[in-house]
Amino acid sequence: MGNKDKRIYIFDTTLRDGEQSPGVSLNNDEKVAIAQQLARLGVDVIEAGFPIASPGDFSSVSRIAKEVKGPIITGLARANEKDIKRAYEALKEAERPRIHTFIATSDIHMKHKLCKSKEEVKEMAVEAVKLSKSLVDDVEFSAEDASRSDVDFLCEIFTSAIEAGANVINVPDTVGYTTPWEFGEFIKAIRQGTPNIDKAVISVHCHNDLGLAVANSLAAVRNGARQIEVAVNGIGERAGNAALEEIVMALYTRRNFLGFTTNVNTKEIYRTSRMVSTISGMNIQPNKAVVGKNAFAHESGIHQDGVIKERETYEIMNPEMVGISSNKLILGKHSGRHAFKLQLNELGYKLEGEALDRAFHKFKELADRKRDILDEDLIMLVDSQVLGSVDETYKLKHIQTSSGTNITAMATVGIEFKGQVLEEAACADGPVEATYRAIDKIIQIPVTLNSYRISAVTGGTDAQGEVVVRVLFEGRTFMGRGLSVDVIEASARAYLNAVNKIVKAYPNLITTSVVKE
Ligand code: KIV
Ligand code: ZN
Repeated sequence: MGNKDKRIYIFDTTLRDGEQSPGVSLNNDEKVAIAQQLARLGVDVIEAGFPIASPGDFSSVSRIAKEVKGPIITGLARANEKDIKRAYEALKEAERPRIHTFIATSDIHMKHKLCKSKEEVKEMAVEAVKLSKSLVDDVEFSAEDASRSDVDFLCEIFTSAIEAGANVINVPDTVGYTTPWEFGEFIKAIRQGTPNIDKAVISVHCHNDLGLAVANSLAAVRNGARQIEVAVNGIGERAGNAALEEIVMALYTRRNFLGFTTNVNTKEIYRTSRMVSTISGMNIQPNKAVVGKNAFAHESGIHQDGVIKERETYEIMNPEMVGISSNKLILGKHSGRHAFKLQLNELGYKLEGEALDRAFHKFKELADRKRDILDEDLIMLVDSQVLGSVDETYKLKHIQTSSGTNITAMATVGIEFKGQVLEEAACADGPVEATYRAIDKIIQIPVTLNSYRISAVTGGTDAQGEVVVRVLFEGRTFMGRGLSVDVIEASARAYLNAVNKIVKAYPNLITTSVVKE
């Protein structure tokens, strides 16, 4: 790995910076599932989390370190002994562990946040790298807010960090402030002003506050950076990070001009994007480059005519290259297991044995309620098996609602809990609220609904509704997702999915006192 190579290393931070997106909170199983998919996608480095941040973060980084093979697994640590040792504890069983330590280097951060002088910061950085290097072979050092730091100081601290053993030096545009021209020159200046730079890889980590994260990262690459830090669907702190799919497809599509390669299997991009969106509950905007619903949709007559005559007239990328199948086979209630499996394979899912049986059973259930099963339905169906891995402490048995223009809405809900079906009814202004009130009466856990979103999985009046809710419990946010052709049922399922996650996270919670033991 060197700064003269033509190979770009993709460092994915979906599970660390991405998880810092407002409202996103993933449980361990979900993080491991995403990490496994990132490995299948072919990223070089997975930043699995920030182990000191919470016991949950520690255990998810440890699990990923143990279970996910292939990529380098890294964890974030501030430049202090406690963070670094905790990161090491979480990472030590990884095939290829990396400690990623950081400290801020801009005047503004050093003065107001750290209250430290340049000399103190440099010393802390060197000590942090030395300690990390004594624990693992692979160490990345980041200068937080680098793009607003004095470049001479940055060169000085990078020189010392490399001397202390850093293999990668990362230049974050923490606040998304830079522009491609400046950032390209900035990387060039770092290369020229850091005498031992050839002993380390230059990495960049760009935020998207001005919508320039991808452009800034590419400008950096043209000036010597060889690792790009990205997140799937561009999620991350505030406006997010450089989007993995945009960076990879820009490098691939313009390879003749840019001259770089990555190790990513582009055909896994769409599936990864859908999975992260489903699990995180963060919708992908329809016009999102590469993975948005409209990314390959041609609306105007002139464009449609052109594409029919020759795809390249208006398409610079082939949708199949990112894993969007052109084979729009529609399945239905008479479709057999073989066709179902083939279509899943076409979509990139290789299910066998019990997993295939479960998915096929769900497919048949859905086909009883929805005539045409489209690719989007299948993707949702399979992806929700990952979410289904949350134990269903509370399981929806039945639901009945009545509502109308001039009547109070009413809901009766039955939930299975410890082998008994508990039933309650409630009234409210609308049927969803009435349903949630009835559920609250049964579960007796003080949760607060923070947000509720509903969308259709496909077009058509028989489309399935997907509901995503966020509920608050003891200051923590839990996301729940529910899917059904009946939107009230989807709403109930989403709410219970979130509640089941709470129960999993707080196993000692006193639940449902109405149950007679
Ligand atoms: O944005 C940032 O500066 C970061 C660092 C910790 C790499 O996320
Ligand atoms: Zn960041």
